[in-house]
Amino acid sequence: MAENKAISQNEYLSLSSEIMSVRKRGEVPLAYVRTYGCQQNVADSERIKGMLDKAGFSFTESVDDADFILFNTCAVREHAEDRVFGNVGALKNIKRKHPSVIIALCGCMMEQEHVAKRIQDSFPFVSLVFGTNCLHEFPRLLYNTLLYGKRTFLRGNTDENVYEGIPIKRDGLFKGFLPIMYGCDNFCSYCIVPYVRGREKSRRPEVVIKEAREMIEAGYKDICLLGQNVNSYGKGLDPRPNFSTLLKEIDKIEGDYILRFMTSHPKDCTKELIDTIAQSKHISHHLHLPFQSGSNRILELMNRRYTREKYLDIINYAKERIPDLSLTSDIIVGFPGETYDDFKETLSLIKEVEFTSLFTFIYSRRKGTPAATMPDVATDDEKSAWFKELLKTQEEIAAKRCENMVGSTQKVLVEEKSSNKEGILSGRTNGNIIVEFAGDESLIGSFKNIKITKARNWILNGELVKE
Ligand code: 5AD
Ligand code: SF4
Repeated sequence: MAENKAISQNEYLSLSSEIMSVRKRGEVPLAYVRTYGCQQNVADSERIKGMLDKAGFSFTESVDDADFILFNTCAVREHAEDRVFGNVGALKNIKRKHPSVIIALCGCMMEQEHVAKRIQDSFPFVSLVFGTNCLHEFPRLLYNTLLYGKRTFLRGNTDENVYEGIPIKRDGLFKGFLPIMYGCDNFCSYCIVPYVRGREKSRRPEVVIKEAREMIEAGYKDICLLGQNVNSYGKGLDPRPNFSTLLKEIDKIEGDYILRFMTSHPKDCTKELIDTIAQSKHISHHLHLPFQSGSNRILELMNRRYTREKYLDIINYAKERIPDLSLTSDIIVGFPGETYDDFKETLSLIKEVEFTSLFTFIYSRRKGTPAATMPDVATDDEKSAWFKELLKTQEEIAAKRCENMVGSTQKVLVEEKSSNKEGILSGRTNGNIIVEFAGDESLIGSFKNIKITKARNWILNGELVKE
């Protein structure tokens, strides 16, 4: 928050806290925050929770107990939107049962005109709606909603400022996200993100480095830098910093931690970035580089601005420089006009690269994007069959990659107890592969060496190495 605004926004939070001390239903005011979608949304919710915390709220996992309910929504695919509408509809009964509860919606869906209108017209029990670029205004919005009870809609993402100083309540104690930029300028023809999150804007490098240092000092062991296209970090800043330089600066901070980042765009992924990873002390040997389709014809229709050959060039360079590199990617199946021949190009690419894992999606038509009006040739059944073929092919590749790791020793960040196996812990390798092994829960949050004994598809089993 800008200096003069920070004061007034903080005051709004104190005033909200006073109102809530009277208005709460239970012993303390309770907030329920549910996050849909990507890591950027998780990071936004952590800031909203930081502000709610300052406004005197504790947090609950039950909508029934809450005084304040917030859904942070995702618009990237239709399925995610349908789930939000279904779950918002179900809140009508909660509002009927507890009329004092405040129901709020934010995130990418709210930046779409037709969605905001539908909320306005058909969901009168929703009191507050705010968009992706209005987080810094949340204290004022919350206060006004509590005080006047008037329905408030604040949307629009043309603000070019980056607001700093918003309090954060992170979900994890040793794994955390650190946003370095917001928005996207790429306009891939299928994607709604540039419309709902607005133009790219970067946080200043000194602010990012300071936040990284604070996280490391607070005991964070796994820090993930976030942006829709981290490779174009710095656009618009003067002097213009570059992403590799930012990584190098953070990497200099002393400590036992892993530095990750996502997402990289192949068109901007440079050899300098690969060299930076190879020479660093802390950067994970994991690169998430979405290629979306293996067919040059489809890549052009998608407006991705690289070819299959250029993608493979950078991948081959990366494999050469970082032999233990773990690669992951996003793929869309069934883009308008895609034929089985195009799809086969995607299959051949995944066989050639041998990714550790893939995030696979069936194309979802997004109103207002160029692809939404492109003619389609394949049926839904055909697309589902291709999708299954893709999953099966990747399963075999992942199993083979994991099998090759048996016998090696991996440095693993121990994350949690297994949900269904007594005495078993689970963690992740530097390359982000899940490892399960027997151990005491006091190890959670620390790095341990694990000897890999067995591969089960994409999960590894191992044993603690005695130190
Ligand atoms: N349909 C299907 N998948 C999509 N993605 C983005 N937009 C769409 C869409 N309209 C996928 C891309 C992107 C990931 C975050 O979501 O693969 O990399
Ligand atoms: Fe969407 Fe493309 Fe931007 Fe990623 S780079 S957020 S896929 S427009």
